[in-house]
Amino acid sequence: MNLTGNKQIHMVRRPVGMPTDDCFELRETLIPTCGDGQVLRRTLYLSLDPYFRLWMKDAAVDRAAGITPLMIGKTISEVVESANPKFAAGELVCGNDGWQEYGISDGSDLTKADPDIQPVTLLLGPLGGTAFTAYGAMVEICKPKPGETLVVSAAAGAVGSIAGQIGKIWGCRVVGLAGSDEKCRWVTEDLGFDACVNYKTESVSDALARACPNGIDAYYDNVAGSILEAVLEHINYGARIALVGLISQYNATEPPVGPNLWPLLAHNAMIHGFQNNDALGPQFGKDMRDWLAQGKIRYREHIVDGIERAPRAFMGLFRGENIGKAFVRI
Ligand SMILES: NC(=O)c1ccc[n+]([C@@H]2O[C@H](COP(=O)([O-])OP(=O)(O)OC[C@H]3O[C@@H](n4cnc5c(N)ncnc54)[C@H](OP(=O)(O)O)[C@@H]3O)[C@@H](O)[C@H]2O)c1
Repeated sequence: MNLTGNKQIHMVRRPVGMPTDDCFELRETLIPTCGDGQVLRRTLYLSLDPYFRLWMKDAAVDRAAGITPLMIGKTISEVVESANPKFAAGELVCGNDGWQEYGISDGSDLTKADPDIQPVTLLLGPLGGTAFTAYGAMVEICKPKPGETLVVSAAAGAVGSIAGQIGKIWGCRVVGLAGSDEKCRWVTEDLGFDACVNYKTESVSDALARACPNGIDAYYDNVAGSILEAVLEHINYGARIALVGLISQYNATEPPVGPNLWPLLAHNAMIHGFQNNDALGPQFGKDMRDWLAQGKIRYREHIVDGIERAPRAFMGLFRGENIGKAFVRI
C-alpha cells in the first residue's frame, strides 16, 4: 500500500504568542509500506491538547535546514495492514502518531483498544489521559472532604469537567470557572456543579466570594495567572491547591507577573503554606533537648545591651547585622 495520501501537518515556524496558520504546513507523503514486523494504521481520532503549545516552544524547528517536525499527539487508529503477529488488520489501537492520517511502527508504541469500550473516543476522554490527570490530582493533592468547597478552573474543559464531577461524587460544593455563559450552564445544569463563574464577564474575586460563602478548601488549577490570584483571596486554613496547568501563560510573550510557577508543575514540586502546629510541641522539645545535649545543634547569639538600643537593633535585622538569634539584654 503506497499510493498517495498520507496527509500530515508539520510545524515549520515556532509561534510567537498565539500560534498562527504560518506555523503549520500541510504535506502529503506516500502511505508507508508495511515492512517486516511493522504495523500500519489509519488514524481515526487525534487528541488535541494544550501541551502541544509547550512542545512547540522547545521543539527544534529550522525550515531552511529542513527541520520541520511532525506535530505530536495521541491517536486512536485502525490497523490497516500488519506484518506483526501481535496485531491484526481491523483492530483499533491507541498510539502517538501525531497529526497525520497514517502511522507506522513496530507496534511497541501501541496499545490495543478494549473492544468493549464504546464509543472508542472514551479512551481520549473519561478513560484517557486527561481524565486520569483529573483523578490523580484530586486523589493526591486536592483531597477534598465531603462538605468542603472545591473550585475548578477551565471547568468546561477535558480535565476540569471531570475533576469537578469527581468533587461532586465525593460530596463537595463544587464551583467552576469558565469562559462563557454556555459553558457555565453546561457545568451547572448537566454536570451538577453548584455554581460556575464566567471569568470573562465577572470580577472573579467578587463572584467567588458569593459562590464560596465558606471559603475555598481545594482548588484544582488548570490556568494559573490572575484566576489563581483571585482564588487565593478566598483560600481557607489548610486548603490544598493542585497546580495542574498554566494555560493562561502558554502563549505569553513576556515573563508572567509574579513568580513563574511552571517549574513547580514541571518538577511535581509543591508550595505548602505553613503555620506552627502546637501539637508538635512535645516532640519538638524532646528532640531539640536531645540534639543540644549531643552537640548536634549549634547556635549563636547576637546580644545588644540596653532597651534604648532596641530600635536600632531591630532595624539591624533588615540590614543583616545579626548572626544567629538577636536579643536585647535589659
Ligand atoms: N499536569 C498534567 O499532567 C496535565 C495533563 C493534562 C492537561 N494539563 C493541563 O490542564 C489544563 C487543561 O487541559 P485540558 O486538556 O483539559 O484542556 P481544555 O480545558 O479542554 O481546553 C483548554 C481550555 O482552557 C481554557 N483557557 C484557555 N486559555 C485560557 C486563559 N487564558 N485563561 C483561563 N482559561 C483559559 C479555555 O476554556 P475557557 O473558555 O473556560 O477559558 C479552553 O477551552 C491545561 O493547562 C493543560 O496544560 C496538565
